[in-house]
Amino acid sequence: MSTLVTGIAELVSNDPEAGDGTPLGLLTDAALVVDDGRIAWLGPAKRAPAADTRRDLGGRAVLPGFVDSHTHLVFGGERSAEFAARMAGERYDGGGIAATVRATRDADDETLRARLHALVGEMRAQGTTTVEVKSGYGLTVADEARALRLAREVTEETTFLGGHVLPPEYAGRVDEYLALVTGPMLTACAPHARWVDVFCEPASPHAFDADASRAILVAGQAAGLGLRVHGNQLAEGPGVRLAVELGAASVDHCTFLDGPDVAALAEGDTVATLLPGVEFATRQPYPDARRLLDAGATVALATDCNPGSCFTSSMPFCLALAVREMGMTPAEAVWAATSGAAAALRRTDVGHLGVGARADLAVLDAPSHRYLAYRPGVPLTSALDLPGGSR
Ligand code: NIG
Ligand code: FE
Repeated sequence: MSTLVTGIAELVSNDPEAGDGTPLGLLTDAALVVDDGRIAWLGPAKRAPAADTRRDLGGRAVLPGFVDSHTHLVFGGERSAEFAARMAGERYDGGGIAATVRATRDADDETLRARLHALVGEMRAQGTTTVEVKSGYGLTVADEARALRLAREVTEETTFLGGHVLPPEYAGRVDEYLALVTGPMLTACAPHARWVDVFCEPASPHAFDADASRAILVAGQAAGLGLRVHGNQLAEGPGVRLAVELGAASVDHCTFLDGPDVAALAEGDTVATLLPGVEFATRQPYPDARRLLDAGATVALATDCNPGSCFTSSMPFCLALAVREMGMTPAEAVWAATSGAAAALRRTDVGHLGVGARADLAVLDAPSHRYLAYRPGVPLTSALDLPGGSR
């Protein structure tokens, strides 16, 4: 069944030629036709073709649904006391992850599933239509595989993060843990995962150095997984260059970068995914998006929703932070949260609204994408449900 969507004051297509020639490909007074879950037509409302049904949005803006390319949604417990301690001056070094690992191992499937589905519901209510979900709070063969099986219930974009931190029972035995992660744990997890990720952060006593990170990524790649890296979150270090060298789809955080890191991101095809909610919730300096954009790197924005370093499910919140604190224009931030994040997942069917793309639509209760940062904290965005949904 086809649906003609009208009353679109501004359509963000992310297709420069379909719109005004800018990266957002803006159309004003626009309409689009959705057929069988895909965009079948878009253009000026006065030239709209007929369709089986009609939906009038009454002068709102329509954007591609947000692509949240970095989350950790399978976890037990919560760490609000750790957040409060940070706001009173404590530093974040990843040490709290062990508490979530304990709570996750102790939780039953139903508890984890209920939390996961609730968070995905929150995201959808704020305009997110594609979400990546990582494991990383199980850190045993059975608990990592369980997390990925649950994650697969909500998304194809599942990421094996056995290399999140060294679990306490392996203290002083990193080589043995690496043998587990690159051996039996990878074998059990790869069938449920599209990606492998590692927390490459020599500045954290809990995370992995360059050699250990390389071993995990190379093993994951040999098992058929695409690569992602948590890098340069707490200090300058090897994460970004390792990610670019190995051809990772994305390196995430990028808070502390030196000149060669920026040059590598500008030259390689690894997306720099920035997670400003983390800097908000850890009181670290924000990453310098302006420097990356001016160098020619592809920048994505995502939430990193997790119980420790950043417990927001809101892409609009992250987008507003990126505009206010990281030197991005509203247009650049919208592009990064849609097209940029789709690139970080190597997806061409989402993150834009060209003909043939998935009809994943975010509707803004405002006339322009600029309102996302102009009216921060106001619940303006939601995903649009249409007959037949998107596929
Ligand atoms: O992306 N950096 C490592 N992992 C998560 C934090 C996880 C946690 O603190 O529970 C992150 O920030
Ligand atoms: Fe993360």
